[in-house]
Amino acid sequence: DKSLKGRDFLTISDFTAEEIRLLIDAAHDLKRDLKKGIPHTILQGKSLGMIFTKPSTRTRVSFEVGMYQLGGYALFLSSQDIQLRRGESLPDTAATLERYLDGIMIRTFDQEDVDELAQYASIPVINGLTDIVHPTQVVADLMTVEEHQGKLAGLKLAYIGDGNNVAHSLLQICARMGVHMTIACPQGYEPDVSVLQAARKDAAKSGVQLEVVEDPVEAVKGADAVYTDIWASMGQEKEQEKRAQVFQHYQVNTELLKGANEDVIVLHCLPAHRGEEITDEVIDGPHSVVFDEAENRLHAHKAIMALLIG
Ligand code: CP
Ligand code: NVA
Repeated sequence: DKSLKGRDFLTISDFTAEEIRLLIDAAHDLKRDLKKGIPHTILQGKSLGMIFTKPSTRTRVSFEVGMYQLGGYALFLSSQDIQLRRGESLPDTAATLERYLDGIMIRTFDQEDVDELAQYASIPVINGLTDIVHPTQVVADLMTVEEHQGKLAGLKLAYIGDGNNVAHSLLQICARMGVHMTIACPQGYEPDVSVLQAARKDAAKSGVQLEVVEDPVEAVKGADAVYTDIWASMGQEKEQEKRAQVFQHYQVNTELLKGANEDVIVLHCLPAHRGEEITDEVIDGPHSVVFDEAENRLHAHKAIMALLIG
Protein backbone atom coordinates (compact mmCIF):
# COMPACT_ATOMS: atom_id res chain seq x y z
CA ASP A 1 0.00 0.00 0.00
CA LYS A 2 1.43 3.29 -1.11
CA SER A 3 -0.79 5.49 1.03
CA LEU A 4 0.42 7.21 4.16
CA LYS A 5 -3.10 8.29 5.03
CA GLY A 6 -3.77 8.65 8.74
CA ARG A 7 -0.11 8.24 9.75
CA ASP A 8 1.68 10.51 12.20
CA PHE A 9 4.93 12.19 11.17
CA LEU A 10 6.89 12.09 14.43
CA THR A 11 10.36 11.04 13.35
CA ILE A 12 12.06 9.90 10.15
CA SER A 13 12.74 6.45 11.57
CA ASP A 14 8.99 5.68 11.42
CA PHE A 15 9.22 5.74 7.61
CA THR A 16 10.77 3.26 5.20
CA ALA A 17 13.00 4.31 2.32
CA GLU A 18 10.07 3.67 -0.06
CA GLU A 19 7.79 5.92 1.97
CA ILE A 20 10.38 8.70 2.14
CA ARG A 21 10.86 8.34 -1.62
CA LEU A 22 7.09 8.75 -2.05
CA LEU A 23 7.21 11.99 -0.05
CA ILE A 24 10.21 13.43 -1.91
CA ASP A 25 8.72 12.54 -5.30
CA ALA A 26 5.40 14.14 -4.33
CA ALA A 27 7.29 17.25 -3.22
CA HIS A 28 9.09 17.50 -6.59
CA ASP A 29 5.76 17.03 -8.41
CA LEU A 30 3.97 19.65 -6.32
CA LYS A 31 6.82 22.11 -6.88
CA ARG A 32 6.79 21.59 -10.65
CA ASP A 33 3.01 21.93 -10.85
CA LEU A 34 2.98 25.05 -8.68
CA LYS A 35 5.49 26.70 -11.05
CA LYS A 36 3.31 25.70 -14.01
CA GLY A 37 0.22 27.10 -12.31
CA ILE A 38 -1.48 23.71 -12.00
CA PRO A 39 -3.53 23.76 -8.77
CA HIS A 40 -3.96 20.79 -6.41
CA THR A 41 -6.78 21.58 -4.03
CA ILE A 42 -6.81 18.08 -2.59
CA LEU A 43 -7.22 19.26 1.01
CA GLN A 44 -10.35 21.29 0.38
CA GLY A 45 -12.43 21.44 3.55
CA LYS A 46 -9.52 20.18 5.70
CA SER A 47 -7.99 22.08 8.61
CA LEU A 48 -4.56 21.90 10.23
CA GLY A 49 -3.90 23.23 13.74
CA MET A 50 -0.33 24.40 14.34
CA ILE A 51 0.85 24.52 17.97
CA PHE A 52 4.09 26.39 18.64
CA THR A 53 5.91 26.65 21.97
CA LYS A 54 9.07 27.85 20.15
CA PRO A 55 9.46 30.56 17.50
CA SER A 56 9.34 29.80 13.78
CA THR A 57 9.51 31.63 10.47
CA ARG A 58 9.87 28.94 7.80
CA THR A 59 7.93 26.08 9.36
CA ARG A 60 4.98 28.24 10.30
CA VAL A 61 4.70 30.12 7.03
CA SER A 62 5.32 27.12 4.78
CA PHE A 63 2.75 24.92 6.51
CA GLU A 64 0.20 27.73 6.55
CA VAL A 65 0.69 28.73 2.91
CA GLY A 66 0.99 25.09 1.89
CA MET A 67 -2.35 24.28 3.46
CA TYR A 68 -3.89 27.28 1.68
CA GLN A 69 -2.47 26.18 -1.67
CA LEU A 70 -3.93 22.69 -1.18
CA GLY A 71 -7.36 24.18 -0.59
CA GLY A 72 -7.38 23.77 3.19
CA TYR A 73 -7.09 26.02 6.20
CA ALA A 74 -4.35 26.33 8.82
CA LEU A 75 -4.69 27.83 12.29
CA PHE A 76 -1.72 29.17 14.23
CA LEU A 77 -2.08 28.17 17.89
CA SER A 78 0.50 29.82 20.09
CA SER A 79 0.95 27.73 23.20
CA GLN A 80 0.78 31.05 25.08
CA ASP A 81 -2.79 31.60 23.94
CA ILE A 82 -4.41 28.18 24.25
CA GLN A 83 -5.30 26.45 27.52
CA LEU A 84 -2.18 24.30 27.41
CA ARG A 85 -0.45 27.26 29.03
CA ARG A 86 -2.81 27.06 32.01
CA GLY A 87 -2.18 23.38 32.40
CA GLU A 88 -4.85 21.71 30.28
CA SER A 89 -3.43 18.26 29.62
CA LEU A 90 -2.15 17.05 26.27
CA PRO A 91 -4.68 14.18 26.19
CA ASP A 92 -7.59 16.61 26.73
CA THR A 93 -6.13 19.00 24.16
CA ALA A 94 -5.84 16.11 21.70
CA ALA A 95 -9.36 14.83 22.41
CA THR A 96 -10.73 18.31 21.77
CA LEU A 97 -8.69 19.32 18.74
CA GLU A 98 -9.45 16.08 16.88
CA ARG A 99 -13.14 17.06 16.92
CA TYR A 100 -12.37 20.16 14.84
CA LEU A 101 -9.23 19.43 12.88
CA ASP A 102 -7.88 16.97 10.30
CA GLY A 103 -4.28 17.25 11.45
CA ILE A 104 -2.02 18.88 14.03
CA MET A 105 1.48 20.21 13.53
CA ILE A 106 3.40 20.87 16.74
CA ARG A 107 6.80 22.45 17.51
CA THR A 108 7.95 22.14 21.09
CA PHE A 109 10.78 21.10 23.41
CA ASP A 110 10.13 17.52 24.54
CA GLN A 111 9.72 14.74 22.03
CA GLU A 112 7.62 12.96 24.68
CA ASP A 113 5.00 15.72 24.42
CA VAL A 114 4.69 15.23 20.69
CA ASP A 115 4.48 11.47 21.12
CA GLU A 116 1.81 11.89 23.80
CA LEU A 117 -0.24 14.23 21.64
CA ALA A 118 -0.04 11.73 18.79
CA GLN A 119 -0.99 8.86 21.07
CA TYR A 120 -4.18 10.60 22.16
CA ALA A 121 -5.16 12.30 18.90
CA SER A 122 -6.85 10.11 16.30
CA ILE A 123 -5.79 12.55 13.55
CA PRO A 124 -2.25 12.77 12.09
CA VAL A 125 0.27 14.65 14.24
CA ILE A 126 3.25 16.21 12.46
CA ASN A 127 6.45 17.01 14.37
CA GLY A 128 7.52 20.54 13.47
CA LEU A 129 10.74 20.26 15.58
CA THR A 130 11.62 19.07 19.05
CA ASP A 131 14.89 19.17 20.99
CA ILE A 132 15.66 15.72 19.54
CA VAL A 133 14.56 15.74 15.89
CA HIS A 134 13.42 17.97 13.02
CA PRO A 135 11.92 15.49 10.56
CA THR A 136 10.04 17.80 8.17
CA GLN A 137 13.24 19.79 7.62
CA VAL A 138 15.25 16.91 6.27
CA VAL A 139 12.66 15.85 3.70
CA ALA A 140 13.08 19.30 2.16
CA ASP A 141 16.85 18.99 2.58
CA LEU A 142 17.21 15.77 0.62
CA MET A 143 14.74 17.07 -1.96
CA THR A 144 17.11 20.05 -2.36
CA VAL A 145 20.20 17.85 -2.61
CA GLU A 146 18.50 15.72 -5.27
CA GLU A 147 17.42 18.80 -7.18
CA HIS A 148 20.96 20.15 -7.34
CA GLN A 149 23.03 16.97 -7.53
CA GLY A 150 20.61 14.95 -9.66
CA LYS A 151 20.55 11.95 -7.29
CA LEU A 152 20.92 10.88 -3.69
CA ALA A 153 22.34 7.37 -3.61
CA GLY A 154 26.07 7.30 -2.98
CA LEU A 155 26.47 11.03 -2.33
CA LYS A 156 28.33 12.29 0.71
CA LEU A 157 26.94 14.89 3.09
CA ALA A 158 29.19 16.54 5.66
CA TYR A 159 27.52 18.13 8.67
CA ILE A 160 29.67 20.62 10.56
CA GLY A 161 28.69 21.66 14.07
CA ASP A 162 26.38 20.62 16.86
CA GLY A 163 25.06 17.04 17.04
CA ASN A 164 21.54 18.44 17.46
CA ASN A 165 17.96 17.79 16.34
CA VAL A 166 18.75 18.60 12.71
CA ALA A 167 21.86 16.39 12.76
CA HIS A 168 19.77 13.52 14.21
CA SER A 169 17.10 13.72 11.53
CA LEU A 170 19.78 13.99 8.84
CA LEU A 171 21.47 10.83 10.16
CA GLN A 172 18.15 8.99 10.04
CA ILE A 173 17.19 10.09 6.54
CA CYS A 174 20.67 9.73 5.03
CA ALA A 175 20.93 6.20 6.41
CA ARG A 176 17.57 5.27 4.89
CA MET A 177 18.15 6.98 1.55
CA GLY A 178 21.70 5.78 0.91
CA VAL A 179 23.62 9.00 1.51
CA HIS A 180 27.00 8.83 3.28
CA MET A 181 27.20 11.26 6.16
CA THR A 182 30.08 12.52 8.25
CA ILE A 183 29.48 14.76 11.24
CA ALA A 184 32.31 16.93 12.53
CA CYS A 185 31.67 18.18 16.06
CA PRO A 186 33.63 19.07 19.19
CA GLN A 187 33.92 16.50 21.95
CA GLY A 188 30.82 16.53 24.11
CA TYR A 189 28.57 17.75 21.29
CA GLU A 190 28.22 14.48 19.42
CA PRO A 191 24.83 13.24 18.24
CA ASP A 192 22.81 11.10 20.63
CA VAL A 193 24.32 7.60 20.88
CA SER A 194 21.00 5.79 20.47
CA VAL A 195 20.08 7.83 17.39
CA LEU A 196 23.50 7.13 15.88
CA GLN A 197 23.35 3.40 16.63
CA ALA A 198 19.90 3.00 15.13
CA ALA A 199 20.92 4.98 12.04
CA ARG A 200 24.03 2.81 11.67
CA LYS A 201 21.86 -0.32 11.53
CA ASP A 202 20.00 1.25 8.60
CA ALA A 203 23.23 2.40 7.04
CA ALA A 204 24.55 -1.15 7.07
CA LYS A 205 21.50 -2.18 5.03
CA SER A 206 21.69 0.69 2.56
CA GLY A 207 25.48 0.35 2.29
CA VAL A 208 26.53 3.80 3.48
CA GLN A 209 28.97 5.07 6.08
CA LEU A 210 27.92 7.29 8.97
CA GLU A 211 30.95 8.80 10.68
CA VAL A 212 31.44 11.15 13.59
CA VAL A 213 34.81 12.92 13.65
CA GLU A 214 36.30 15.94 15.39
CA ASP A 215 38.04 17.53 12.43
CA PRO A 216 35.85 19.54 10.00
CA VAL A 217 38.56 19.38 7.31
CA GLU A 218 38.43 15.60 7.44
CA ALA A 219 34.62 15.66 7.30
CA VAL A 220 34.30 17.78 4.15
CA LYS A 221 36.77 15.69 2.13
CA GLY A 222 34.91 14.52 -0.97
CA ALA A 223 31.60 15.99 0.20
CA ASP A 224 28.83 16.69 -2.31
CA ALA A 225 26.88 18.67 0.27
CA VAL A 226 28.05 20.57 3.33
CA TYR A 227 25.45 21.32 5.98
CA THR A 228 25.57 23.43 9.10
CA ASP A 229 23.19 24.75 11.75
CA ILE A 230 23.38 27.26 14.59
CA TRP A 231 25.59 26.37 17.55
CA ALA A 232 23.01 27.19 20.23
CA SER A 233 19.55 25.84 19.43
CA MET A 234 16.26 27.18 20.72
CA GLY A 235 16.22 26.56 24.45
CA GLN A 236 20.04 26.80 24.70
CA GLU A 237 20.23 30.59 24.69
CA LYS A 238 22.10 30.63 28.02
CA GLU A 239 24.90 28.52 26.51
CA GLN A 240 25.35 30.89 23.56
CA GLU A 241 28.68 32.40 24.67
CA LYS A 242 30.22 29.15 25.80
CA ARG A 243 29.21 27.45 22.57
CA ALA A 244 30.63 30.30 20.47
CA GLN A 245 33.99 29.44 22.08
CA VAL A 246 33.68 25.66 21.80
CA PHE A 247 32.58 25.74 18.15
CA GLN A 248 34.91 28.47 16.84
CA HIS A 249 36.81 26.06 14.57
CA TYR A 250 33.59 24.63 13.15
CA GLN A 251 32.77 27.49 10.80
CA VAL A 252 31.73 26.75 7.23
CA ASN A 253 33.90 29.25 5.33
CA THR A 254 35.59 29.48 1.95
CA GLU A 255 38.78 27.87 3.24
CA LEU A 256 36.91 24.83 4.58
CA LEU A 257 34.95 24.40 1.35
CA LYS A 258 38.19 24.05 -0.63
CA GLY A 259 38.43 20.52 0.72
CA ALA A 260 35.01 19.50 -0.60
CA ASN A 261 34.05 18.49 -4.14
CA GLU A 262 34.17 21.27 -6.71
CA ASP A 263 30.39 21.22 -7.25
CA VAL A 264 29.60 21.03 -3.53
CA ILE A 265 26.34 22.60 -2.37
CA VAL A 266 25.96 24.28 0.99
CA LEU A 267 22.84 23.85 3.09
CA HIS A 268 21.64 25.45 6.31
CA CYS A 269 18.19 24.89 7.78
CA LEU A 270 18.13 28.58 8.86
CA PRO A 271 17.94 30.81 10.80
CA ALA A 272 21.70 31.41 10.49
CA HIS A 273 24.05 33.22 12.79
CA ARG A 274 26.16 34.76 10.03
CA GLY A 275 29.79 35.08 11.07
CA GLU A 276 29.50 32.17 13.49
CA GLU A 277 28.70 28.77 11.95
CA ILE A 278 28.75 30.18 8.39
CA THR A 279 30.33 33.20 6.73
CA ASP A 280 28.49 35.75 4.59
CA GLU A 281 30.80 34.82 1.74
CA VAL A 282 29.63 31.20 1.80
CA ILE A 283 25.94 31.69 2.54
CA ASP A 284 25.67 34.35 -0.20
CA GLY A 285 28.11 32.57 -2.50
CA PRO A 286 27.77 30.33 -5.55
CA HIS A 287 27.67 27.02 -3.64
CA SER A 288 24.86 28.06 -1.33
CA VAL A 289 21.38 26.63 -1.90
CA VAL A 290 19.95 27.74 1.44
CA PHE A 291 17.03 29.69 0.05
CA ASP A 292 16.08 26.91 -2.38
CA GLU A 293 16.18 24.72 0.70
CA ALA A 294 13.93 27.15 2.58
CA GLU A 295 11.54 27.25 -0.39
CA ASN A 296 11.48 23.47 -0.55
CA ARG A 297 10.04 23.36 2.97
CA LEU A 298 6.82 24.55 1.30
CA HIS A 299 6.78 21.77 -1.28
CA ALA A 300 7.90 19.08 1.17
CA HIS A 301 5.27 20.08 3.73
CA LYS A 302 2.57 20.07 1.08
CA ALA A 303 3.64 16.53 0.16
CA ILE A 304 3.55 15.45 3.81
CA MET A 305 0.08 16.94 4.35
CA ALA A 306 -1.28 15.64 1.06
CA LEU A 307 -0.16 12.07 1.77
CA LEU A 308 -1.06 11.98 5.47
CA ILE A 309 -4.29 13.98 5.47
CA GLY A 310 -5.43 13.88 1.80
N1 CP B 1 14.39 25.70 9.58
C1 CP B 1 13.33 26.01 10.35
O1 CP B 1 12.66 25.15 10.91
O2 CP B 1 13.05 27.35 10.41
P1 CP B 1 12.03 28.06 11.40
O3 CP B 1 12.56 27.88 12.81
O4 CP B 1 12.01 29.48 10.94
O5 CP B 1 10.68 27.39 11.26
N1 NVA C 1 18.76 23.36 15.74
C1 NVA C 1 17.92 24.52 15.56
C2 NVA C 1 17.08 24.37 14.32
C3 NVA C 1 16.21 25.55 14.02
C4 NVA C 1 15.32 25.32 12.82
C5 NVA C 1 17.06 24.72 16.79
O1 NVA C 1 16.55 23.71 17.33
O2 NVA C 1 16.90 25.85 17.23
